[in-house]
Amino acid sequence: MLIKLMNKERVFSGIQPSGEFTLGNYLGATRNWVRDQDKKINYFCIVDLHSLTVPQDPEELRHQTRSLAAMLMACGLTPEKSTIFIQSHVKAHTEGCWLLNTITPLGWLQRMTQFKDKAAKQESILTGLLDYPVLMAGDIIFYDADEVPVGDDQKQHVELARDIAQAFNHRYEEEFFVVPKPVIPTAGARVMGLDDPTRKMSKSYAHIRGHAVRILDEDKEIMRSFKKAVTDSDNEIVFSDDPAKAGVRNLLGIYQAITGKDNEGVLADFADARGYGDLKVRVGEAVINEVAPIRERHKELMNDPAELDRLLAQGAAQAEAVSQPKVDQMKEIMGLIVPK
Ligand code: TYM
Repeated sequence: MLIKLMNKERVFSGIQPSGEFTLGNYLGATRNWVRDQDKKINYFCIVDLHSLTVPQDPEELRHQTRSLAAMLMACGLTPEKSTIFIQSHVKAHTEGCWLLNTITPLGWLQRMTQFKDKAAKQESILTGLLDYPVLMAGDIIFYDADEVPVGDDQKQHVELARDIAQAFNHRYEEEFFVVPKPVIPTAGARVMGLDDPTRKMSKSYAHIRGHAVRILDEDKEIMRSFKKAVTDSDNEIVFSDDPAKAGVRNLLGIYQAITGKDNEGVLADFADARGYGDLKVRVGEAVINEVAPIRERHKELMNDPAELDRLLAQGAAQAEAVSQPKVDQMKEIMGLIVPK
């Protein structure tokens, strides 16, 4: 049993509690975490410290953090199979982040595309925003994770985590850190906004009506967003890389991620569709069928905050038992005195 356990891959992934959980988060990440939960050793982290890198309303952040924990469980993650915890509850993340800062060249952080995008929107750029990928690298490597299941937009950050792990191994001790790899789904890796299929569906724009599907939206609201989804004027339902057809490709991609069908199977389902109107309604229905039960479970879990907090405390204790010894070992290797 123990040997089998040791052969299992270790998985780490994280999600920010800022904004509301979207269909992009679900299809790009959480759904895949749930699917593979039995096969791996799993750590899933609600990365509240990452959310602080852009301005947040404190009460709202606290609410969203609990709500996201309930959401992950409503989607099917269970504390019996996965360690689910809040990042700020495990001090090893911030302590270890400082240590990693001392081996990470500034240039590596300045060239991150997400930093450049977010920085362009801020009047004053906070140090935390620049340092964000180092905190994320620590999240992953302090758990010896081999695999990091994420959407396409996080690939560059996971690659940086690889670089940081290798830099430490090279400078201090070969093979100290496992070098993790990103695992990106074939369908659903990049769900685009329904109002603008050239822009990634994002929690940050989830307040704009018609942009994102929020899992907590009522059925009517979800259908409304699909009916208003931006497409094109030629009424042809095909998978195409033509930028003009990005809207249709996005709708087909969402349907594909939900059904697990290949391109042919997806197109066969729409062979009798009467134009884009039909396409939008059928994709909307598929999404509603998938997310409505999640919304119900979320409601139940939110009704028992004491139980939720108990599960999160248990998750934090399990996470700490893995990451703190790793960070203590790092300190020792780097020449610090670790009190016994
Ligand atoms: P975050 O909170 O932005 O997103 C959480 C997960 O959802 C995926 N995702 C999407 N996938 C497909 N289409 C979309 N439109 C879409 N939007 C979001 C993201 O790729 C991600 O997998 N930096 C991370 C959080 C993080 C983390 C980590 C991830 C912190 N530490 C360690 C992995 C490992 C982030 O902001 O994700």
